[in-house]
Amino acid sequence: MRKFDGDKLLVATHNAGKLQEMTEMLAPHGVTVVGAAAMDLPEPEETEDTFVGNARIKAHAAAKATGLPALSDDSGITIDALEGAPGVYTADWAETGQGRDFMMAMTRANDEITAKGPDAPRTAQFRCTLVLAWPDGHDEVFEGVMPGTLVWPIRGEHGFGYDPMFMPDGYDITCAEMEKEEKNSISHRGRAVQAFLAGCFG
Ligand code: IMP
Repeated sequence: MRKFDGDKLLVATHNAGKLQEMTEMLAPHGVTVVGAAAMDLPEPEETEDTFVGNARIKAHAAAKATGLPALSDDSGITIDALEGAPGVYTADWAETGQGRDFMMAMTRANDEITAKGPDAPRTAQFRCTLVLAWPDGHDEVFEGVMPGTLVWPIRGEHGFGYDPMFMPDGYDITCAEMEKEEKNSISHRGRAVQAFLAGCFG
């Protein structure tokens, strides 16, 4: 596995919630994070139908544009009762044409599970794929999963996206009711970052 030997890492995301979580998780390891928006990078179209495919598009585009190693995150939620939907379309479910509305997206998820009947499972997984790409075209891939249950009504004010309806296995609070350190220690993104640190550092 190729090592990362810089102290500044370009994180190829325009999502403020993801960027904040990455910055917090990487700071203790001496890595300064720079986001794609701060570098004025365009947001490439995510045309693949897998998390790793879309993460590769974002990381390679950013590495090519800047000449720096770039880490991208493609993530989302897979709902068992909906055969894995919304999956790579997790962000699309929140799209309104005038920005993203996660209350609308969470309501759709709850409505579609409810429509499957009273016995439909409410289990789901948050999934995260990280790709670190270098300007010469090499890349390394890391994955993390957090299993849980979708609750209704939503609960909590922290986090972002679908956090208020997601209760991780082993907890009786949602991700939006957790302190950020607690979420980062068990989350799909936290697990993928741990794999990245173990693989590309040290
Ligand atoms: P993308 O990876 O930018 O295509 O979008 C992933 C989408 O998944 C985000 O916009 C969020 O809605 C959702 N998502 C990913 N990670 C989390 C998380 O940790 N909490 C809540 N929602 C998340």
